[in-house]
Amino acid sequence: MKNDFRQKLHLEPTKGWLNDPNGLSFFKGKYHIYFQYCPDSPYGNGNKCWGHWESSDLINWVFCGTAIRPDCPEDKNGAYSGCGIVSGDTLHIFYTGNVKNDGDYDYITAGREANVIHIATKDGRNMSEKRVLLRNSDYPKNCSCHVRDPKVWEENGKFYMVLGARTLDDKGCVLYYASPDLLNWTFEKAESRDGFGYMWECPDVIELCGNKYLSISPQGLAHGELSHQNIYSSGYFKGDEFIEWDYGFDFYAPQTFTAPDGRKIIIGWMGIGDIPYTNPTAELGWQHCLTMPRELVLKKDGEIYQKPLSELQLLRRECREIEANSSISAELPFELTGKICGDFSIKSNSFSLSYEDSIFTLEFLDMKVSGGRTSRRVRLENLDEIRIFADTSSLEIYLNGGKRVISSRFYPEDTEIELLVCGLSGKIYRLDGIKVTKGTENE
Ligand code: FRU
Repeated sequence: MKNDFRQKLHLEPTKGWLNDPNGLSFFKGKYHIYFQYCPDSPYGNGNKCWGHWESSDLINWVFCGTAIRPDCPEDKNGAYSGCGIVSGDTLHIFYTGNVKNDGDYDYITAGREANVIHIATKDGRNMSEKRVLLRNSDYPKNCSCHVRDPKVWEENGKFYMVLGARTLDDKGCVLYYASPDLLNWTFEKAESRDGFGYMWECPDVIELCGNKYLSISPQGLAHGELSHQNIYSSGYFKGDEFIEWDYGFDFYAPQTFTAPDGRKIIIGWMGIGDIPYTNPTAELGWQHCLTMPRELVLKKDGEIYQKPLSELQLLRRECREIEANSSISAELPFELTGKICGDFSIKSNSFSLSYEDSIFTLEFLDMKVSGGRTSRRVRLENLDEIRIFADTSSLEIYLNGGKRVISSRFYPEDTEIELLVCGLSGKIYRLDGIKVTKGTENE
């Protein structure tokens, strides 16, 4: 079948532009996913709003349109990224009001304002008045104008906020604030690392088994053969080590939240800003999607593994066995899962996956299909198992139970793909899509 590139497993807007996931939360029986949204421009031009989906089961979603618009002096150039936290019967939203003043400014040390704005909502859709909680004058003196992306959490009856920032001497850092009541915030401390980029965006503090991990999306890291292969990175600190969340072409600005059953779930933007590669959907009127939600699990090796949510198994339809060294014709979307049992490779017309000398490689073979994406590599001492979610225009590849993940867009002309599989025995499932219906709210 001819591919229309409309994703079946991933949330994407029907028109316009999406970037970061925002305000992830579970509130009054529903999951809420907000996102950076430009409804009128698939290229992300214009002031960013917050779009909104909600769901009671993470499979059936309702698109609720635009939840937050930049409509006050303190956010006049965009309702930038932020979070949601439930307290009592209210979902409290914190986001960055972006202001760019007209004039001859560098917009780094002058000309830009970044306000932390609070909104309360009782239903996730109808928003209270906006209230400005922090302005540039409230940030440490050595900060540039770039301070944004508040993430708030509760700990022992007190609230904490982490913000991403750039110092005046071009060092990425995070700022921590504390509050007794979600409205009055006091600066506590800043945290940084030498030689680790000029700006840290979208920070998050993730608690797993009593340990806390700082996740950031740093800009300005040196690119390596096997690390930080994209223009901007995204990962978490395990002590002094920075572990990237994803090694594919399209992953940035993730955010986490806690499900009612205690699972920590991460969702990323399946895209990055300022990339040289392209997405042909932009010409069709929309661009970008979110990654599938992934459960975070702390494993014995001290690393955080990412597991596709168990809910996704509900989408499985016909299953076929895959024998080592076989050729399979598969219709997108599909899930392929298997154990490695020899010299591993999977080849199609448009991409190849291989593992050699402890390096796993995703290589795109047709630059038209990949929009200019070439190859990405990741080191793994052993390759034991692989799980692939192939959507109509993306691949999410989970290696060794999610120790490493590779996410990339690609745009095959046809939804039927021929795979030549070597050194793997497993299963391939045809998948149903998630359901997204349109709510009653206006766009
Ligand atoms: C990350 C980011 C955030 C900002 C938002 C604006 O992709 O640059 O730092 O809040 O996007 O859309």
